[in-house]
Amino acid sequence: MTSDVTSLQSSPFLTAARGGTPSHTPVWFMRQAGRALPEYHKAREGVAMLDACMNADLITEITLQPVRRYGVDAAIFFSDIVLPLKPLGLDLEIKPGVGPVFGSPVRTLEDVEAIPDLTPEHLPFITQAVQNLTAELASIGAHGTPLIGFAGAPFTVASYLVEGGPSKEYAKTKALMFGAPDIWDALMRKIAGISATFLEVQVAAGASAVQLFDSWAGAVHPRDYERFVMPYSRLVLERAGALGVPRIHFGVNSASLLTLMGEAGADIVGVDWRTPLEFGIAAAGPDRGVQGNLDPALVFAPTEVMTARAAEIIEAGRAAKGHIFNLGHGVIPSTNPDQLKALTDFVHSYEIVQ
Ligand code: CP3
Repeated sequence: MTSDVTSLQSSPFLTAARGGTPSHTPVWFMRQAGRALPEYHKAREGVAMLDACMNADLITEITLQPVRRYGVDAAIFFSDIVLPLKPLGLDLEIKPGVGPVFGSPVRTLEDVEAIPDLTPEHLPFITQAVQNLTAELASIGAHGTPLIGFAGAPFTVASYLVEGGPSKEYAKTKALMFGAPDIWDALMRKIAGISATFLEVQVAAGASAVQLFDSWAGAVHPRDYERFVMPYSRLVLERAGALGVPRIHFGVNSASLLTLMGEAGADIVGVDWRTPLEFGIAAAGPDRGVQGNLDPALVFAPTEVMTARAAEIIEAGRAAKGHIFNLGHGVIPSTNPDQLKALTDFVHSYEIVQ
C-alpha cells in the first residue's frame, strides 16, 4: 500500500495528536528502537552509539526495526538528545550503560560562548535519514506511518553538559541555575537554539510530529521550573509550532509540572507512569491531549496482567482531548519484544466505544 501526505494526516497517531477521534487508540513506545531488539544489537555490532547516530543508513534501519516488528502507529527517529553537540565539536561520548559523557563540562560564560550555534549544514546525515525514512514509512500501515522527530529540552541537555555526565542530584546544574543566573540564561538560550534547529531539520526533511524530552525537569520545584526552565523550553516549542506539526512535551516525575509543561507550548502532554492518567488529563486541561502511561515494568508481568492495566489506561484516556498510548517512560532494555508486540496488538484491537 502506498500513501501520500493527506493520507498520513488521517493516520490514527496524527488524528489523536490533533485532538480528533482515531479508528483505534494509537500506540508507540518511547525508546522502542534500541536494546530490547536482537536486530538492533546486530545492526550496532562494532559501531559506537554516536557513529550509528551519524550514519543515515543505520539510522534508517534502526528506526524501522520496531515499526516492522510491533506495527506501532509511529516511528521515532533514532538519535539522541545530545547528538547535535557532536558535530559542533564538543568532546562527547555516549558510554554503554552510562549515557552521554562530556570531557570538558560547561560551567563558565566562556565555556557557553565557545559552543557554536547549530546550522542545518551540521546535520546532512539527519536530513538524509529522515528523507529515506519518510519514503519507506509512507507504505507501511493503512495510512502510512508518521515519523516523530525529537530533541532534548534545554534543562535536560544542560544537566549533561554541566555535570559532564549523568547525575542523580543535579548539584552542579542547580548551583549554576540558582547561583549564576546570567550564565544559566546564556547556556539555556544556546541549547534552546540548538534543539530548535535540530527539530527544524527533522521536520523540514519530513517528520510529521515532534517530541521535546525534558526527562529530568521533574528534579526542580514548579516555581523554579517557571523561572529557570520553562522560558527556554517555550523558545523551542514556539519554533516547532511555527512548523505546523503537533508537539509532545514529556518529562519523568513531572506530576507537579504537567500544567506548566502544557503551557510551555505543547499540544500533547506526556505523562509518566507514577501519575494517574486522569490527573494528567486534568493537569493538561481541555485544550491539550495526553500521551502515556503504562509502567514500563508491567511488560515483566504475565501478558493478561499487562493488558488489563493497558485497558484501564485506554478507558481513562477517553476523557482527554486526544490520547496516544505509550509507556510512562522508555522501554527497559531487558524487555521481551514479544510482550510489546502483544501490547500493541491489544491496544489496536481494543474497541473504541463512543
Ligand atoms: O526509540 C527511541 O526512543 C529513539 C531513540 C532515542 C535514544 N535516546 C537512543 C539511545 C531517544 C528518543 C533518546 C532520547 C534520550 N537520550 C533521552 C530522553 C529519553 C528518556 O529516556 O528520558 C535521554 C535522557 C538521553 C540520554 C541518554 N542516551 C541516556 C540516558 C542513554 C542510556 C544510557 C544507557 O546505556 O543505559 C543514552 C544512550 C542511548 N540513547 C541508547 C539508545 C538506544 C543506548 C545506547 C546503546 O545502545 O548502547
